[in-house]
Amino acid sequence: MSSAKPKSVVITGAAGDMGGGAAASFRADGYRVYAADLRAPPAAANTVPVALDVRDRAAVFALAERAAAESDLRVWINCAGVVSNAPVDQASPEEWDRILGINLTGTFHGCAAAFAAMKKNGGGRIVNAGSISGQLGGVGPHPAYGASKAGVHALTKSYALAGARYGIYCNAIAPAVIEGSMARAFSAPQLEKYLAAIPMRRLATMDEIVHAIRYLADDRAGYTNGVVLALNGAQLNIG
Ligand SMILES: NC(=O)c1ccc[n+]([C@@H]2O[C@H](COP(=O)([O-])OP(=O)(O)OC[C@H]3O[C@@H](n4cnc5c(N)ncnc54)[C@H](O)[C@@H]3O)[C@@H](O)[C@H]2O)c1
Repeated sequence: MSSAKPKSVVITGAAGDMGGGAAASFRADGYRVYAADLRAPPAAANTVPVALDVRDRAAVFALAERAAAESDLRVWINCAGVVSNAPVDQASPEEWDRILGINLTGTFHGCAAAFAAMKKNGGGRIVNAGSISGQLGGVGPHPAYGASKAGVHALTKSYALAGARYGIYCNAIAPAVIEGSMARAFSAPQLEKYLAAIPMRRLATMDEIVHAIRYLADDRAGYTNGVVLALNGAQLNIG
């Protein structure tokens, strides 16, 4: 049965490169976008900006309840995330807590809030931002980054397992470095070394990543659940 309410998507980290790219793509297909971030996302039509810290569980649940009350909430994308560089022998416990708190606990709150709303509404699709670092680790970023993303991958499977019988899908993407702010943090020699480990010898474009998010958020991906989709140009090691 079709709903009279407008179809919608919640995107956390919506002021960032990936969240912003996903927001533009969903908007172009007529979705109302609940654009949640610590920073204000750029103003756009059919977009509801929501100032939100994903570590605030009550605020994340309030957003899910609001979106489900005002609209036909079909998709929830957890894109909010942080990374910082630290050699493993200098990685601080404070930074460990910060990265885990945003990337992993924040994604847990997003999955839990979306799950509760979608269970009531007869289903929906959750997409989480994982990373190649969650599969391979890495020596540049603080070790919490890969650990948080490995946690996101496992969380994704747990919500898929629990959600399947309610029509709730939960999938993740696991991209390597994408053109944009994260790539600009590399020095030229770092980037050269990194590219040498990628068989395709180039970074992903954000369009390529958004396309994968849209696939995982699409009802036609009817048998794709609990997947961690590697988007890495056939990269098998971290360089
Ligand atoms: N860009 C890449 O190369 C790449 C590769 C693999 C995975 N990822 C993951 O994809 C996701 C999006 O990355 P991006 O490239 O768009 O990064 P980005 O830095 O451009 O965007 C991240 C957004 O998250 C927001 N954010 C940070 N902490 C928050 C909090 N506590 N509450 C709410 N919002 C918060 C930031 O304000 C920012 O707008 C992240 O989870 C990242 O780890 C990115």
